[in-house]
Amino acid sequence: MAKKFYVTTPIYYPSGKLHIGNTYTTVIADCIKRYKKLRGYDVFFLTGTDEHGEKIEVKAKEAGKTPIEFVDEIVDNTKKLWKRLGIEYDDFIRTTEERHEKTAQSIFSKFLAQEDIYKGAYTGNYCRSCEAYWTDTQVGEEHTCPDCGKPTEIKEEEAYFFKMNKYAPWLINYYKEHPNFIYPEARTNEMLNNFLIPGLNDLCVSRSTIKWGIPVKEDPKHVIYVWIDALTNYISALGYGSNDDSKFQKFWADEDCEVLHLMSKEIVRFHTIYWPIMLKQLGLRLPTQIYSHGWVLMKSGKMSKSVGNVVYPEYIIDKYGVDALRYYLVKVIPFGQDGTFTPEMFVEHVNTDLVNNIGNLLSRSVAMCAKYFGGEVPAINTTSLNNIDKSFMEKVNVLLNKFESNMDQIKLTEGISTIFEIGDIANKYIDEKEPWVLAKDEARKGELENCIHNLIETLRKIAILFKAFFIEIPNKMFEQLGVTEENQSYESVKEDRVTSNKVEKKEALFARLDFEKEVAYLDEKISGK
Ligand code: MSP
Repeated sequence: MAKKFYVTTPIYYPSGKLHIGNTYTTVIADCIKRYKKLRGYDVFFLTGTDEHGEKIEVKAKEAGKTPIEFVDEIVDNTKKLWKRLGIEYDDFIRTTEERHEKTAQSIFSKFLAQEDIYKGAYTGNYCRSCEAYWTDTQVGEEHTCPDCGKPTEIKEEEAYFFKMNKYAPWLINYYKEHPNFIYPEARTNEMLNNFLIPGLNDLCVSRSTIKWGIPVKEDPKHVIYVWIDALTNYISALGYGSNDDSKFQKFWADEDCEVLHLMSKEIVRFHTIYWPIMLKQLGLRLPTQIYSHGWVLMKSGKMSKSVGNVVYPEYIIDKYGVDALRYYLVKVIPFGQDGTFTPEMFVEHVNTDLVNNIGNLLSRSVAMCAKYFGGEVPAINTTSLNNIDKSFMEKVNVLLNKFESNMDQIKLTEGISTIFEIGDIANKYIDEKEPWVLAKDEARKGELENCIHNLIETLRKIAILFKAFFIEIPNKMFEQLGVTEENQSYESVKEDRVTSNKVEKKEALFARLDFEKEVAYLDEKISGK
């Protein structure tokens, strides 16, 4: 039976247009899904929107809309954006859907019934922006939110609490026994030292001051705290507790299914402390890994509308195509660490990797195959294989293995970089072999055949590996290389397959970008002028 994999993005707040930061996690998740599919996994990929809470309520009011009208429009645009980016999600969960609300309510009821949740009163330092209460030590003398830095306010309400504190020892032990649960591992210590060891507060899990939320069934003047509501999306979308829970059984209940939650660092705490405790008290297994990647930053720091440095994906896709953006996010932003988006780096990298490296390799190789062999890919001529060929073929094999090993460890940036390394050595192979010299000498025809064969074959492999990342590039390459469908599978990467297919030169894979012109264009778009 095929191995199973469940990958999720955070569900985004539909409070405004999504920028390349949110796009980042979704593209990463999509690449992971595509790679796992290439490897024959049965994959389920979930994304969605986190639609309740005070922030949305306020934004809708400002826009003169009801909350649902307000979020409907943003969700619509979000789905359009994912379509343009080629995101192959299997489900899109909205926390305002009945299927989600019912599950969130019944989970809350279960916690109440088993007395994990109790009623109390809460007075605390509240951050409106993060929708979170903080202890006095956390807000300090300045009374600012430790997460976002904005001022907190004192707020009091009758509320329900989850006995998080009771389960802290269990969680500490769970971390010990599962050292890979949190990635990067350093975050585990952060959770331990900042939250678990000093003592966890019981978590306030209801709000009576907000209307826009899921009512507590037993006490409808309260709505469920937005984070409790949101976290349950990962199982409500799979049909947990519903009449049809087959997806839940397949992708969650079955411990053989790997479950990966992706996000960036600011929300790791919710996923590594509250979510595991909730799952334990539901009697459910925990996700295999909580992966915290870095931020996409700007030269001036975090993206923010007030600074005027927000990058939106649409104009990049319009002008440079979907793959140029996906390329930048996966290759140039080092997965797992913070990275920067700058117009200069964008243009430079597209020119170096997509135009010079792969684009040129393709056009040169296809042109030579057309010129010397009428477009028909020659077979290997074993008697003429020399050390340059052998060493090249060996290096390609080493890099193919390196690709696989990186990708299996979800080292996506290293994985995609390995493909460009193959491109590099193939370009060097052309320089070393000098096929234009071989072509002048009939006695060296065998050597020329090997060179062209190896180049076309290597490009076929590159195109297959690119299927994990790109939407348009692989097919454009297959078309020019004349590779039929049966030679496009991942398994075929390990074999030498194509001979006598017809190549066909078409327009360049990527047009070279004019540095000055495109940087000026992007600068203008980013500053919103
Ligand atoms: N609604 C919560 C998540 C609930 S999940 C149960 C939320 N939403 S959000 O809209 O603020 O999205 C946050 C997520 O968007 C981050 O965790 C990250 O995945 C992604 N990113 C948003 N900005 C980002 C960058 N600048 N860089 C990289 N990813 C970032 O938090």
